[in-house]
Amino acid sequence: MKIAVLPGDGIGPEIVAQAVKVMKALAGDGLKLEMEEAPIGGAGYDAAGDPLPESTLALAKAADAVLLGAVGGPRYDTLDRPLRPERGLLRIRKEMNLFANLRPAFLYPELASASTLRPEVVAGLDIMIVRELTGDVYFGQPRGIEIRNGERVGFNTMLYAESEVRRVAHVAFGIAMKRGRKLCSVEKANVLECSELWKEVVIEVAKEYPEVELSHMYVDNAAMQLVRNPRQFDVIVTGNIFGDILSDEASMLTGSIGMLASASLDQNNKGMYEPIHGSAPDIAGKNIANPLATILSVAMMLRYTLNQEAAAVRIENAVKKVLAQGLRTADIYTEGTKKASCSEMGDAVVAAL
Ligand code: IPM
Ligand code: MG
Repeated sequence: MKIAVLPGDGIGPEIVAQAVKVMKALAGDGLKLEMEEAPIGGAGYDAAGDPLPESTLALAKAADAVLLGAVGGPRYDTLDRPLRPERGLLRIRKEMNLFANLRPAFLYPELASASTLRPEVVAGLDIMIVRELTGDVYFGQPRGIEIRNGERVGFNTMLYAESEVRRVAHVAFGIAMKRGRKLCSVEKANVLECSELWKEVVIEVAKEYPEVELSHMYVDNAAMQLVRNPRQFDVIVTGNIFGDILSDEASMLTGSIGMLASASLDQNNKGMYEPIHGSAPDIAGKNIANPLATILSVAMMLRYTLNQEAAAVRIENAVKKVLAQGLRTADIYTEGTKKASCSEMGDAVVAAL
């Protein structure tokens, strides 16, 4: 199994290095994993003048799965828009047709006190957000900044074709079938035509999944319900931008955005795996970032794309074990636990494997 490893920018290289240690440990135990690294984001720009160098895209397409760290940094914010790191990430998602983004928000019992919400509100939390990833206002045309009536206007287009809604709805219903059989579709159909169509199509698809209890929620209410009573949710399906926002919010319920992995899948479950947090330039190079989201992304990769459930469970158990040992990176540190650096955390997970 060939893994394209794309560390990216900021804390990307440090956290990915820990995930690579974990993969090497698994490979040492007989799992046939081969890794090859390539630059993306700002690193791609530095290496080849392109946030998604052609050779990186080719490697990613040829690989069985992709592991990505994070992209972006203040150094690149003033580049021409097409050259910015984030565009590299958006392009690889689009080029590989990774339309279904799975973002679990799962609370490890040991971290209940690290959440900003009261433990009794978040205890037992286990939500799966399915975010559509290749459409919406992120990609809709026209877009731009131009002069109209003597002043600058900025504009983007929120657009979904029904086929795009249908395929991600199928993924979400399929996941709901394997979990608690509850699906909440989140949109803003009281204002946006795009959302009106979204809702109609989700209702059509629901007919094929009579066992799943489908509900609908406006995104503003969903944002509120996520902090009011997050355990009402099992699976959430939503568009690209709403999913971007709600998945950051959901991640904080679990104590730290540094804990959450994600999978971005195409029609055939080929995928790219990345922590949902960003490149955190403020702490880059300090060896204090939390590598667990990236390590858990490897577990998702083994489960969803490589069909190695046993190895996935092994990683997840190793993570649980280090948390039970009281090891914490700065972002999840609470009094009475043991502070670990990024690399110490990676070593501890390998030892626990
Ligand atoms: C994410 C990020 C990206 C997004 C950025 C870096 C382009 O926030 O993966 O959630 O908006 O999709
Ligand atoms: Mg985001």
